[in-house]
Amino acid sequence: MSQKRLLNKVIVITGGAGLLGQEHAKAVLSEGATAILLDIDFDGLVHASIDLVAEYGTKVVLRQCDITNDEAVSKISLEINSSVGVPCGLVNNAAINPSVEKNTATFSRVESINYEEWKLHLDVGLYGAFLCSKVFGAAMIENGISGSIVNISSDHGIMAPNQSLYRVSGKPDSEQPVKPVMYSVVKHGLIGLSRYFATYWATSGIRTNSLCPGGVLNGQPEEFLQRFNQLVPLGRPANPNEYHGALLFLLSDDSTYMTGSTLVIDGGRSIW
Ligand SMILES: NC(=O)c1ccc[n+]([C@@H]2O[C@H](COP(=O)([O-])OP(=O)(O)OC[C@H]3O[C@@H](n4cnc5c(N)ncnc54)[C@H](O)[C@@H]3O)[C@@H](O)[C@H]2O)c1
Repeated sequence: MSQKRLLNKVIVITGGAGLLGQEHAKAVLSEGATAILLDIDFDGLVHASIDLVAEYGTKVVLRQCDITNDEAVSKISLEINSSVGVPCGLVNNAAINPSVEKNTATFSRVESINYEEWKLHLDVGLYGAFLCSKVFGAAMIENGISGSIVNISSDHGIMAPNQSLYRVSGKPDSEQPVKPVMYSVVKHGLIGLSRYFATYWATSGIRTNSLCPGGVLNGQPEEFLQRFNQLVPLGRPANPNEYHGALLFLLSDDSTYMTGSTLVIDGGRSIW
C-alpha cells in the first residue's frame, strides 16, 4: 500500500469555515495530515467542521483567528508549535469573497468604493496572506523544516472579471452589480506575493506557489450558471472537491522543484 503523502505533517488553512477551506481540509486529512483550521468566524468554523471532526477526531484543530491581526497570528503560531507541532504547510485561503451572482449584498461599483471597503479586502486577502506567510514561514525556517505555502488566488488573478455574467435585467448600467475591483487586485497581488516569497526564501527550504481556481459550484442561480457555462470550454463550474489533487500536489513532495509558479485550474476559462 502506498504511503500517505502528508502523514504526520501539520498544515495550516486560513478561512477554514468556508466552502474551499473545508475542501482543503478534507484533502490534507485524507493524506494523513493534521489540519489546523483558522477562521475569524469561530461558530461558523465549528459548525462547518462537524463532519470532519467526526471522521478525523483530534487531527482537526479549530482556532478562532483574525489573520489581519499580528498579535493573534503570532500567538496562534506559538501555541500550535507547542501543542500540535510546527506546520510544514500553509494554505492562504481566507478572503472576502463576494458571490455577486447570488445578489445577496450590495456590490460596490468603482464610483462608490471607499477606503474602508478597499482596506478590508486588501487586509484580509493580501496582508493576511503576507502575515501568515511571515509568521508560519519563520517557524518552519527556525525549525529547519522544508515547507510549502500555497496562496489561493483565482482565475480572477490572471484575467479581469467578465461583468456581463452578473448582469441583472431592468437595471441601468450605473446600478448593475459587479465583482468589486478589490477582488481583482487581491487575486493578482497574491501571485506577486507567491513569486516574492519564492525567491526570498528559495534557499531556506520554503516553496511558495499560487493556485488559481475557477468558479466553484455553490448553489448559484440557474440563469447565472447558464451564462457561466458558456464562458468555460469544459462547459461547467468546478465541483468543490476538484482542487484536492492540485492542493496535495503543491503541498507535498510531489512538487519539490516547483516554486513561484501559478497553477490555473479553471476548466479552460482563461484560455478563451
Ligand atoms: N468559491 C469560488 O468559486 C472560488 C473561485 C476562485 C477562487 N476562490 C478563492 O478561494 C478562497 C476560498 O473561497 P470560498 O468560496 O471558500 O470563500 P468563503 O467566503 O466561503 O470562505 C472564506 C472564509 O474566510 C474567512 N475570513 C474572512 N476574513 C477573515 C479574517 N480576517 N481572518 C480569518 N478568516 C477570515 C471567512 O469567515 C470565510 O469562512 C478565497 O480566497 C477565494 O477568493 C474561490
